[in-house]
Amino acid sequence: MKFLMILIFILSLSLVACGGDGGGSDEETNSESDADSDSDSDGDSDGDSDGDSDTDGDSDSDGDSDSDGDSDGDSDGDSDTDGDSDSDGDSDSDGDSDGDTDTETGGDGDTDADGDSDTGHKTCDNPATLKEAGECMEPPMLIGAAIGKLWGPIDPKCYGESRCLNTASAEHNYVTCENEMKWQVIEPNRGQFDFTEADAIVNWAIGEKMKVKGHTLVWHSQMSEWMNALNADETRAAVENHIVKVMDHYKGKLYSWDVVNEAVETSTNTGDSGAKMRNTVFYQRLGKNYIDEMFQFAHDHDPSVKLYYNDYSIDADNEKFAFVYDMIKGMVDRGVPIDGVGFQMHIGPPNNYKVTGETVSKNMRKLTDLGLEVLISEMDINMCGGQISQDTQLELYHDVVEACVKNSSCSAITFWGIDDPRSWLNNFDEAQCGGSGAEPLLFDGNFGKKETYKRVMAALTGK
Ligand code: G3I
Repeated sequence: MKFLMILIFILSLSLVACGGDGGGSDEETNSESDADSDSDSDGDSDGDSDGDSDTDGDSDSDGDSDSDGDSDGDSDGDSDTDGDSDSDGDSDSDGDSDGDTDTETGGDGDTDADGDSDTGHKTCDNPATLKEAGECMEPPMLIGAAIGKLWGPIDPKCYGESRCLNTASAEHNYVTCENEMKWQVIEPNRGQFDFTEADAIVNWAIGEKMKVKGHTLVWHSQMSEWMNALNADETRAAVENHIVKVMDHYKGKLYSWDVVNEAVETSTNTGDSGAKMRNTVFYQRLGKNYIDEMFQFAHDHDPSVKLYYNDYSIDADNEKFAFVYDMIKGMVDRGVPIDGVGFQMHIGPPNNYKVTGETVSKNMRKLTDLGLEVLISEMDINMCGGQISQDTQLELYHDVVEACVKNSSCSAITFWGIDDPRSWLNNFDEAQCGGSGAEPLLFDGNFGKKETYKRVMAALTGK
């Protein structure tokens, strides 16, 4: 009799592992997630800010039990899927040792805009890769990387190094071109477009079943010189033409766009004081409403992609975040079609380093309370030859990723590169700190997983 009960228990566990609602990191769950999370023609897709669609379509994102009545996503420690107590007598869903990828909530019970309690993403145990950790969450989270083909501190660049690309596609399901979609590359001369470099990365990513975020349509940096000579009408015509041509070229291929990048500046790059609109060619010629105009224009042209504002040093309790928040709230109040805000999360010199999990969490929550998505869009942590200790780096990697996991409207985390030696920080003067030791990413020069990878994985699995 005892043997029969054990057999029934094992059989029911394997049924859950094969068909589990969202906890599975098995192939079936992954392929469902891939299929479901593609952007469809009307722009609806998984991972959207309302958090109401999921990988398999049968469970909601509010932390309730899913519709088939299973309770395997519960975090409350009550009965597990088969209702049996497990071998150690516990009856919770995450304490078992059977190797399942049971889900558990990453939530901290924060209250969201509707007054509901946001329990965050439900996470699962034992995913084999970062992207699997994101895919088996409820709602799912995209895990991205910037891929470079043009510039960087060493050759070959990531795009030319098979180990780099293999690591990228094994561990990530979201890609940003590090430089190749920027204005100076795509439209170096007025009306002359060159998509060669960006196309290589986009086509590779799509072939690997990865989603792509366009970066970036409107940015003062890496801008073509010819824009400086234009008056207001010519500037408006030029920027609209740029948006139309670039969005058309990638229509149906991209998941999202950084529409406007870094439109706010402070007296130093740390974001502490002196926040104001950056005095860019767009601001000078088109006035303070240019951001509204650009989002509306991009949305009208292609309503199927998500549209984000993206900035750095907005991860702390500082003046820059307060300014950006007011700007974004104004946009939302005016009905400007914006889907979300990217926190670049370049931590350490030359940017902000007064970051904690709490400040990130608080700032993200303020924006998601407006009904927006947030995402970590360019993460790296520059140790700067010891200015940030390894312990601090590890703690920050964990706590910042955890802040995203605990907010169900935090839809993606992108790391700004794959391996340390290819990081932009190694040849950016202001980030040099005497020329040594940025070591900012998750993989070393041999594409081995660093401690940073392990801390990120821990946070992605709710640990
Ligand atoms: O423009 C010259 C080019 O003509 C020349 O051939 C080349 C030779 O090395 O140098 C070029 O300058 C490069 C520049 O991008 C392009 O303007 C630099 O070498 C290169 O290091 C530089 O850095 C990029 C940086 O953006 C520029 O702002 C980084 O690779 C890239 O990682 C970085 O990415 C930005 C994001 O887009 C926005 N957020 C901040 C992030 C980090 O700065």
